[in-house]
Amino acid sequence: MATPSKMLSFFVGLLLLNAFCFANRDIPDDEFEGSRTLVLEHSFQSGLADQFTKRGTIVIHSLKESKAQFTASTSLSPSDIDLLRSSAQTDGLYRVRIPIKTSNDGIASYVSSATKACGIVESGLKDEITVNFDQSGEVLGVSIRADVSSCAGLDVPDTNLSQWRTAVEVTTTVAGPSPDTQTYIEKMKRDEQEKLKNQDGDNRSFLGKYWMYIVPVVIMMVIMSSADQQAQGGGGR
Ligand SMILES: *[C@@H]1O[C@H](CO)[C@@H](O)[C@H](O)[C@H]1NC(C)=O
Repeated sequence: MATPSKMLSFFVGLLLLNAFCFANRDIPDDEFEGSRTLVLEHSFQSGLADQFTKRGTIVIHSLKESKAQFTASTSLSPSDIDLLRSSAQTDGLYRVRIPIKTSNDGIASYVSSATKACGIVESGLKDEITVNFDQSGEVLGVSIRADVSSCAGLDVPDTNLSQWRTAVEVTTTVAGPSPDTQTYIEKMKRDEQEKLKNQDGDNRSFLGKYWMYIVPVVIMMVIMSSADQQAQGGGGR
Protein backbone atom coordinates (compact mmCIF):
# COMPACT_ATOMS: atom_id res chain seq x y z
CA MET A 1 0.00 0.00 0.00
CA ALA A 2 1.22 3.49 -0.84
CA THR A 3 2.06 5.54 2.22
CA PRO A 4 1.14 9.25 2.21
CA SER A 5 4.76 10.34 2.03
CA LYS A 6 5.35 8.17 -1.05
CA MET A 7 2.30 9.61 -2.73
CA LEU A 8 3.37 13.08 -1.76
CA SER A 9 6.71 12.69 -3.48
CA PHE A 10 4.93 11.23 -6.49
CA PHE A 11 2.77 14.30 -6.84
CA VAL A 12 5.64 16.68 -6.27
CA GLY A 13 7.47 14.84 -9.03
CA LEU A 14 4.45 15.17 -11.30
CA LEU A 15 4.29 18.88 -10.56
CA LEU A 16 7.95 19.41 -11.44
CA LEU A 17 7.55 17.39 -14.62
CA ASN A 18 4.61 19.55 -15.59
CA ALA A 19 6.47 22.77 -15.00
CA PHE A 20 9.43 21.44 -16.97
CA CYS A 21 7.35 20.40 -19.98
CA PHE A 22 5.47 23.66 -20.19
CA ALA A 23 8.59 25.74 -19.72
CA ASN A 24 10.31 23.95 -22.59
CA ARG A 25 7.41 24.23 -24.97
CA ASP A 26 8.07 27.83 -25.99
CA ILE A 27 11.78 27.66 -26.90
CA PRO A 28 11.98 28.60 -30.59
CA ASP A 29 13.84 26.28 -32.91
CA ASP A 30 16.32 28.82 -34.26
CA GLU A 31 18.85 26.14 -35.20
CA PHE A 32 17.01 25.54 -38.46
CA GLU A 33 18.26 27.23 -41.61
CA GLY A 34 17.14 26.32 -45.08
CA SER A 35 19.92 25.28 -47.42
CA ARG A 36 20.79 27.44 -50.41
CA THR A 37 22.17 26.71 -53.82
CA LEU A 38 24.45 29.06 -55.76
CA VAL A 39 25.52 28.64 -59.36
CA LEU A 40 29.24 28.87 -60.05
CA GLU A 41 30.34 29.98 -63.53
CA HIS A 42 33.86 30.13 -64.91
CA SER A 43 35.88 31.54 -67.79
CA PHE A 44 39.30 30.48 -69.08
CA GLN A 45 39.86 33.52 -71.20
CA SER A 46 40.95 36.85 -69.87
CA GLY A 47 40.19 38.54 -73.16
CA LEU A 48 37.47 41.04 -73.94
CA ALA A 49 34.58 38.69 -74.53
CA ASP A 50 33.54 37.13 -71.26
CA GLN A 51 32.82 33.54 -72.09
CA PHE A 52 31.44 32.24 -68.85
CA THR A 53 30.03 28.75 -68.67
CA LYS A 54 28.50 26.87 -65.77
CA ARG A 55 31.06 25.05 -63.68
CA GLY A 56 28.72 23.61 -61.05
CA THR A 57 26.74 24.43 -57.96
CA ILE A 58 27.63 25.36 -54.44
CA VAL A 59 25.17 24.13 -51.85
CA ILE A 60 25.25 25.91 -48.52
CA HIS A 61 23.92 23.49 -45.92
CA SER A 62 24.37 25.76 -42.96
CA LEU A 63 25.68 29.29 -42.72
CA LYS A 64 26.14 29.05 -38.98
CA GLU A 65 28.21 25.90 -39.13
CA SER A 66 29.93 26.89 -42.40
CA LYS A 67 28.84 23.72 -44.12
CA ALA A 68 29.00 23.95 -47.89
CA GLN A 69 29.81 21.72 -50.80
CA PHE A 70 30.69 22.06 -54.47
CA THR A 71 29.23 19.78 -57.12
CA ALA A 72 30.68 20.00 -60.64
CA SER A 73 28.11 19.94 -63.43
CA THR A 74 30.53 18.39 -65.94
CA SER A 75 34.22 17.56 -66.10
CA LEU A 76 36.42 19.80 -68.25
CA SER A 77 36.11 19.11 -71.98
CA PRO A 78 39.28 18.81 -74.13
CA SER A 79 38.60 22.30 -75.54
CA ASP A 80 38.23 23.70 -71.98
CA ILE A 81 41.57 22.14 -71.12
CA ASP A 82 43.16 23.71 -74.21
CA LEU A 83 41.82 27.14 -73.26
CA LEU A 84 43.04 26.74 -69.68
CA ARG A 85 46.50 25.66 -70.83
CA SER A 86 46.89 28.51 -73.30
CA SER A 87 45.76 30.98 -70.64
CA ALA A 88 48.33 29.50 -68.24
CA GLN A 89 51.09 29.82 -70.84
CA THR A 90 50.39 33.52 -71.34
CA ASP A 91 50.17 34.16 -67.59
CA GLY A 92 46.44 34.73 -67.97
CA LEU A 93 43.64 34.50 -65.46
CA TYR A 94 41.09 31.88 -64.63
CA ARG A 95 37.89 33.53 -63.47
CA VAL A 96 34.79 32.50 -61.55
CA ARG A 97 31.59 34.33 -60.77
CA ILE A 98 28.30 33.72 -58.96
CA PRO A 99 25.08 35.37 -60.15
CA ILE A 100 23.41 36.89 -57.10
CA LYS A 101 20.51 38.91 -58.41
CA THR A 102 18.56 39.48 -61.58
CA SER A 103 16.95 42.88 -61.98
CA ASN A 104 13.53 43.36 -63.58
CA ASP A 105 15.03 44.06 -67.01
CA GLY A 106 16.92 40.76 -66.91
CA ILE A 107 20.40 42.08 -66.09
CA ALA A 108 22.14 39.80 -63.65
CA SER A 109 24.65 41.03 -61.12
CA TYR A 110 27.57 38.94 -60.00
CA VAL A 111 30.27 38.56 -57.43
CA SER A 112 33.49 37.35 -58.99
CA SER A 113 37.07 36.39 -58.39
CA ALA A 114 40.12 35.42 -60.41
CA THR A 115 43.37 33.58 -59.93
CA LYS A 116 46.32 32.71 -62.16
CA ALA A 117 45.39 30.02 -64.66
CA CYS A 118 48.79 28.35 -64.19
CA GLY A 119 47.93 27.73 -60.52
CA ILE A 120 44.71 25.98 -61.49
CA VAL A 121 46.63 23.81 -63.98
CA GLU A 122 49.52 22.94 -61.66
CA SER A 123 47.28 22.15 -58.72
CA GLY A 124 45.47 19.63 -60.92
CA LEU A 125 42.15 21.46 -60.49
CA LYS A 126 42.48 21.53 -56.71
CA ASP A 127 41.19 24.83 -55.46
CA GLU A 128 39.46 26.50 -52.57
CA ILE A 129 36.48 28.80 -52.97
CA THR A 130 35.38 31.09 -50.18
CA VAL A 131 31.90 32.59 -50.24
CA ASN A 132 31.31 35.51 -47.95
CA PHE A 133 27.83 36.31 -46.61
CA ASP A 134 26.46 39.19 -44.61
CA GLN A 135 24.39 38.53 -41.52
CA SER A 136 21.09 38.53 -43.38
CA GLY A 137 22.34 35.73 -45.64
CA GLU A 138 23.06 37.82 -48.75
CA VAL A 139 26.16 36.95 -50.76
CA LEU A 140 28.80 39.67 -50.35
CA GLY A 141 31.68 38.19 -52.28
CA VAL A 142 33.60 35.19 -53.51
CA SER A 143 37.30 34.39 -53.68
CA ILE A 144 39.23 31.59 -55.33
CA ARG A 145 42.64 30.20 -54.55
CA ALA A 146 44.52 27.35 -56.26
CA ASP A 147 46.20 24.83 -54.01
CA VAL A 148 49.78 25.63 -55.09
CA SER A 149 52.30 27.98 -53.55
CA SER A 150 53.57 29.21 -56.92
CA CYS A 151 53.69 28.20 -60.55
CA ALA A 152 56.79 26.15 -61.38
CA GLY A 153 56.12 25.38 -65.03
CA LEU A 154 55.14 21.76 -64.34
CA ASP A 155 54.02 19.59 -67.20
CA VAL A 156 50.62 18.39 -66.02
CA PRO A 157 48.95 15.53 -67.95
CA ASP A 158 45.37 15.92 -69.20
CA THR A 159 44.18 13.18 -66.85
CA ASN A 160 44.92 15.55 -63.94
CA LEU A 161 42.72 18.22 -65.49
CA SER A 162 39.33 16.62 -65.75
CA GLN A 163 37.91 16.48 -62.22
CA TRP A 164 37.62 19.39 -59.83
CA ARG A 165 38.77 18.79 -56.28
CA THR A 166 37.20 21.82 -54.71
CA ALA A 167 36.87 22.81 -51.09
CA VAL A 168 34.22 25.41 -50.26
CA GLU A 169 34.53 27.75 -47.32
CA VAL A 170 31.72 29.91 -46.00
CA THR A 171 32.36 33.05 -43.98
CA THR A 172 29.93 35.49 -42.46
CA THR A 173 30.82 39.13 -42.09
CA VAL A 174 29.58 40.48 -38.81
CA ALA A 175 28.42 44.07 -39.07
CA GLY A 176 30.11 46.57 -36.82
CA PRO A 177 28.26 48.38 -34.03
CA SER A 178 26.51 50.90 -36.25
CA PRO A 179 22.95 51.98 -35.41
CA ASP A 180 20.55 49.73 -37.28
CA THR A 181 17.31 51.67 -36.99
CA GLN A 182 15.46 49.76 -39.70
CA THR A 183 15.86 46.42 -37.93
CA TYR A 184 15.04 48.03 -34.61
CA ILE A 185 11.80 49.53 -35.92
CA GLU A 186 10.83 46.19 -37.47
CA LYS A 187 11.51 44.46 -34.20
CA MET A 188 9.35 46.99 -32.33
CA LYS A 189 6.51 46.40 -34.78
CA ARG A 190 6.85 42.65 -34.43
CA ASP A 191 6.85 42.87 -30.63
CA GLU A 192 3.71 44.99 -30.71
CA GLN A 193 1.90 42.58 -33.00
CA GLU A 194 3.02 39.70 -30.80
CA LYS A 195 1.60 41.48 -27.77
CA LEU A 196 -1.72 42.09 -29.52
CA LYS A 197 -1.88 38.47 -30.59
CA ASN A 198 -1.24 37.30 -27.04
CA GLN A 199 -3.97 39.57 -25.72
CA ASP A 200 -6.43 38.20 -28.25
CA GLY A 201 -5.50 34.59 -27.80
CA ASP A 202 -5.03 34.41 -24.05
CA ASN A 203 -8.27 35.60 -22.48
CA ARG A 204 -8.83 32.34 -20.60
CA SER A 205 -9.52 32.50 -16.90
CA PHE A 206 -6.83 32.11 -14.29
CA LEU A 207 -7.99 28.52 -13.67
CA GLY A 208 -8.03 27.79 -17.39
CA LYS A 209 -4.43 28.88 -17.72
CA TYR A 210 -2.93 27.34 -14.63
CA TRP A 211 -5.05 24.27 -13.93
CA MET A 212 -2.08 21.99 -14.58
CA TYR A 213 -0.26 23.52 -11.65
CA ILE A 214 -3.25 23.86 -9.36
CA VAL A 215 -4.72 20.38 -9.66
CA PRO A 216 -1.67 18.51 -8.26
CA VAL A 217 -1.46 20.97 -5.36
CA VAL A 218 -5.15 20.46 -4.52
CA ILE A 219 -4.76 16.68 -4.69
CA MET A 220 -1.71 16.90 -2.48
CA MET A 221 -3.59 18.95 0.10
CA VAL A 222 -6.52 16.52 0.11
CA ILE A 223 -4.19 13.58 0.65
CA MET A 224 -2.27 15.33 3.39
CA SER A 225 -5.39 16.34 5.27
CA SER A 226 -6.91 12.85 5.00
CA ALA A 227 -3.63 11.35 6.23
CA ASP A 228 -3.81 13.80 9.11
CA GLN A 229 -7.35 12.75 10.00
CA GLN A 230 -6.40 9.08 9.87
CA ALA A 231 -3.50 9.70 12.20
CA GLN A 232 -5.73 11.60 14.63
CA GLY A 233 -8.51 8.99 14.41
CA GLY A 234 -5.99 6.21 15.07
CA GLY A 235 -4.74 8.04 18.17
CA GLY A 236 -8.30 8.51 19.56
CA ARG A 237 -9.15 4.79 19.67
C1 LIG B 1 48.78 13.97 -61.53
O1 LIG B 1 47.94 13.26 -60.61
C2 LIG B 1 48.61 12.20 -59.94
C3 LIG B 1 47.56 11.47 -59.12
O2 LIG B 1 46.79 12.35 -58.36
C4 LIG B 1 49.73 12.78 -59.09
O3 LIG B 1 50.41 11.72 -58.41
C5 LIG B 1 50.70 13.53 -59.98
O4 LIG B 1 51.70 14.14 -59.18
C6 LIG B 1 49.97 14.58 -60.80
N1 LIG B 1 50.89 15.19 -61.74
C7 LIG B 1 51.22 16.48 -61.72
C8 LIG B 1 52.25 16.91 -62.70
O5 LIG B 1 50.73 17.25 -60.92
